[in-house]
Amino acid sequence: VKHLLGIRDLQRQDIELIFQTAREFKEVLQRPIKKVPTLRDTTIVNVFFENSTRTRISFELAEKRLGADTINFSASGSSVSKGETLIDTVNNILSMKVDMVVMRHSASGAPHFLAKHIDVPILNAGDGINEHPTQALLDAFSIKEKLGSIEGRKIAICGDIMHSRVALSNIYCLKKLGAEVTVVGPPTLIPKYLESALGVNVTYDIREALQWADVANVLRIQLERQNTPLFSSLREYSIAYGINRKLLDSLQKDIVIMHPGPINRGVELSSDVADSGHSIILDQVENGVAVRMAALYLLAGKQSQ
Ligand code: CP
Repeated sequence: VKHLLGIRDLQRQDIELIFQTAREFKEVLQRPIKKVPTLRDTTIVNVFFENSTRTRISFELAEKRLGADTINFSASGSSVSKGETLIDTVNNILSMKVDMVVMRHSASGAPHFLAKHIDVPILNAGDGINEHPTQALLDAFSIKEKLGSIEGRKIAICGDIMHSRVALSNIYCLKKLGAEVTVVGPPTLIPKYLESALGVNVTYDIREALQWADVANVLRIQLERQNTPLFSSLREYSIAYGINRKLLDSLQKDIVIMHPGPINRGVELSSDVADSGHSIILDQVENGVAVRMAALYLLAGKQSQ
């Protein structure tokens, strides 16, 4: 594997190798000196054409912990606003002797397109509504850490499945690792092909999904990707699909709550659930650094062979 464009391209053993490597890096991150010189002579550019808090900081921190030199590029404030193309932008950056590219873009397929035109490894940090591979890897890594295994576990992915790259990458990843996956949300936010094409269960009943699940990975409604809103209002969404303490307590069972962030508090999750003992949301963020260190390390190693 030269690039990390999506989970769809990976084999189960690739994912397990990333997890094993991430576990080793997580141990490094617990030490007083959290840095290793593994990528000391490597320069990595983080090219973000879309906003980010977690992914961007996590990649930059992962790169710095590996001893790499990092450059950060945002489309806003760059010559993209003067009409420069994606390929010209990246080729100009690469001509300054950059070794790897981390890229987020609002267009699905943008990193795959770029991979055909440049010769260095690309890590997809989220492309449109397509994939967010490192998020799925850190999510699955966090489930395994919490529950000890993924094979046979029941995972509900809740909310705006239609516009979520996190949902698609999670489905690929969890199915490859042997989990059972149910997607739950309003019918207008669940693509029809999912059940037949990807082998997930579909339900429109949040209580039924949570009653079944060991883990609920709760997603944000991505209004920025909806030309016309596909649900009547956030208030009504919250009443029908929001997960709050009262709903969780009524289930009378243990369940792990996850969220990739950013959370719309009071919409898909109430604060008393997001901040409760059920939640591993900040563990996901912590694990993201080790998982991204692993992905960067493994791709850089392939490059130098
Ligand atoms: N989970 C995630 O991708 O968050 P950001 O958009 O803040 O990077």
